[in-house]
Formats: sequence, C-alpha cells, structure tokens
Amino acid sequence: MALSVRDSPNAVEKSSEGVANRPRHSPVFTVRRRRSAGFDWLAPIYGGMEMLAAGRVLQQARACWVAQLKDRRRILIAGDGHGRGAAGIAQVFPDAEIAVVEASAAMIAAGRRHVTATAGCQARVSWIHADIREWSPAGVYDAIVTQFFLDCFAPESLAQVVNRLAAAAATNAIWLLTDFAIPESPGWRRTRARAIHRLMYFFFRHATGLEASFLTPPDRLLQEAGFVMGARRTFDAGLIHADWWSLMPPPQLSSR
Ligand SMILES: C[S@@+](CC[C@H](N)C(=O)[O-])C[C@H]1O[C@@H](n2cnc3c(N)ncnc32)[C@H](O)[C@@H]1O
Repeated sequence: MALSVRDSPNAVEKSSEGVANRPRHSPVFTVRRRRSAGFDWLAPIYGGMEMLAAGRVLQQARACWVAQLKDRRRILIAGDGHGRGAAGIAQVFPDAEIAVVEASAAMIAAGRRHVTATAGCQARVSWIHADIREWSPAGVYDAIVTQFFLDCFAPESLAQVVNRLAAAAATNAIWLLTDFAIPESPGWRRTRARAIHRLMYFFFRHATGLEASFLTPPDRLLQEAGFVMGARRTFDAGLIHADWWSLMPPPQLSSR
C-alpha cells in the first residue's frame, strides 16, 4: 500500500500509538486511489443541503448511540464527510484519539476546520485521505463509526469494506452504524422509503459517481465478521436506523 504522509514523516507511528505519542497537529495521510467518490464539490453545501432535505433527523440518528463510545480510546470513523462526527466525538470524549478515513479532500478540509474550531480536539484527530477499498489499517481500534457511509457501496464492495473495517477492530470493539433503511413490513412506510431511496441514489450517483444504485443491508456481513447487534433504533418512519454492534456479546438487548 503506497502511503505518503504530508504533515509529519512520523505521523503514522504516532497516530497508532498512545496518548503519550500523540501528534502535535492533525496529520493528513494520503493513500493513492484509483477511484474518487466525488464528494468534493458537495463539501461546502453538505450541511445546508442536509438541513433543507431532512431537518435535524439525520443528526438525531447520528447522535443516538454516541454514549456507547465512553471509555473507548481509539476510534476509527470511516467516511466522516465534513467532520462534524469527529469534532463532536472528540469534544464529548476528551481521552479518545480519533482517526478518520475519508476519500474526499474537500470533506477532510471541512472536517479539519470543524475540529480546529473545537477546543482541545485538534491534536487527537488524524485524517487519512484514502479510498477505504484500498486502505489497510495500521493499527487496531476499539470503536468503529460509520454514519451514512456503508450505504454508499454496491454489494461486492460492501463486503470488502466491512471486512477491512472489521480487521481493524480490537477484540472488544464496538461498531456504531447509522444508515438509511427500507422497512421490512409492507405499507406506506416501505413505499415512502423506497421512493426516497430511488431519489437519493439517483441524485448521489449522478452528483458524486456513487457506485451503489440501491441499498445493501450490511447486517449479515457484520454478523459474519463476528459482530452481534447490541441495539437498533429507527427514525423517520423507518427510513433511518442507528445501531450499535459489538464483537463481545452485549449484556442485554434493549430498544434504546
Ligand atoms: C453520504 S456521505 C456521509 C458523510 C457523513 N458520515 C455523514 O454522516 O453525513 C459519505 C462520505 O463517505 C465518503 N466516501 C464515500 N466513498 C468512500 C470511500 N470509498 N472511501 C472513503 N470515503 C468514502 C464521502 O467522501 C463522503 O464524505
């Protein structure tokens, strides 16, 4: 895997070790890519576009299980977009070190701005500019966070992406996952969700070159990778679900 490190030649080692060797500033690592997810041009308008299209519901879903990250020291976020996830998590958990793998340079730049504007967070967030399909983790993480990310991939890539992320998971790791969904039961919720999915995938395929043209639920892939669902909550009439999964069996299943 070709890695070029922009800010510091030692940044890879620093980011994969502990708090004592924390990098002084947020590094950006660049992994050579064949394909671009094409989200760059959306970076300046992404937040506004989301508010217009969906209001606050996506943010509620993202925040749903964040408390599960308590006591997690090394957190990997894949496809964080404009970086509010990294900034929010770094702010709430001051002992956490966070690595973000993100294919869009413009999204990383926006993310760095958010993190820099959040007191005490900059040195604990490192940025890996890479296509996840070509990235190999340098260390292990005790939490993985994917929010509106796994739904970007077609079935064959999704399996690869889940396996790659699972390979970076420590033995007691948890996985916070928020994605769009289609309710299983027939009825207006399912019909509505299918219509919204058609519109969304049409837009993102044309606007960003997204490889997926429909949703592939990742549940079976997570299970095959050894994860067990701790809990799931749905939002907006089943259009969105937020889960936490664990490599260790959870103590009890609950709806919240
Ligand atoms: C739909 S956006 C979601 C962003 C954010 N997580 C959120 O909750 O809004 C998907 C993000 O994943 C990134 N992405 C898409 N495909 C990727 C890939 N193959 N490797 C790494 N990042 C990717 C995009 O650049 C974009 O920032």
